[in-house]
Amino acid sequence: MELKGKVALVTGAAHRVGRAIAAHFAERGAAVAVHYNRSRAEAESFAAGIERAGGRARAFGANLESVPAIERMANEVLAAFGRIDVLVNCASVFYRKPLEDVTEHDWDVNLDTNLKAPFFLSKFAGAAMRRQGAGKIVNIGDWAGIRPYNNYLPYTVSKSGLIGLTRALAKALAPEVQVNCVALGPVMPPEDYGEEETARLVAGTLTKRLGSPEDVARAVMFLCEGTDFATGATLLLDGGRLLN
Ligand SMILES: NC(=O)c1ccc[n+]([C@@H]2O[C@H](COP(=O)([O-])OP(=O)(O)OC[C@H]3O[C@@H](n4cnc5c(N)ncnc54)[C@H](OP(=O)(O)O)[C@@H]3O)[C@@H](O)[C@H]2O)c1
Repeated sequence: MELKGKVALVTGAAHRVGRAIAAHFAERGAAVAVHYNRSRAEAESFAAGIERAGGRARAFGANLESVPAIERMANEVLAAFGRIDVLVNCASVFYRKPLEDVTEHDWDVNLDTNLKAPFFLSKFAGAAMRRQGAGKIVNIGDWAGIRPYNNYLPYTVSKSGLIGLTRALAKALAPEVQVNCVALGPVMPPEDYGEEETARLVAGTLTKRLGSPEDVARAVMFLCEGTDFATGATLLLDGGRLLN
């Protein structure tokens, strides 16, 4: 898909990996819908920077735990830009909880944000894409969706579900919309990780380095503009972590 003149909605785009992905869409001439939840100021200033540089961007807020909020945001993006060509489901929650401490709330927050939200956003955006005749959805997953981390059970289940959702949506939205997943290894450690924890992440890869947000953005660009033939696929972008 040629991205120039298209509209890309990226969730969790105020910071970190989502922001790098959104920046790549802007560089390619796509209008960017910058989704945020708590980071309104950062999302608005990021969107304003894209506009100052000659691109098109706007920030859209939604708590992805709420399906009505998801539907409202999809409608706001359609009202602002007239179409949605690309959806990247990148927003996520990620926190450690040993099995014996996991509550119903932990389960719901992880599954709602990381799995239910990508489903409903894909449902709403996918309907627009089908009306337009084409579209791309990229889900940002985790290698832990294939081989679970210790002490992150609801998170890993949500990311396993995301791989299944990718396949199911690829069938349900065919032939107009291609749906793929990029399952990441360590890219940007949580902000409270120390040097030792980060060194352990590096040592766990075959490449002996962390991925960069640009590695992720380039993979997303490949799935959006590099081919229209991949659908239902999960691309492992994990520095070989799964094999190690
Ligand atoms: N970073 C890594 O090394 C790594 C490794 C494996 C997989 N991944 C996956 O890659 C993606 C991006 O990772 P990241 O580390 O950049 O993510 P992150 O910083 O942990 O989170 C991204 C954004 O998700 C948004 N978010 C959280 N709860 C939300 C909610 N209820 N409603 C709406 N938005 C919500 C937050 O937006 P606000 O700030 O606006 O509240 C946050 O900025 C995630 O899907 C993650 O699972 C990352």
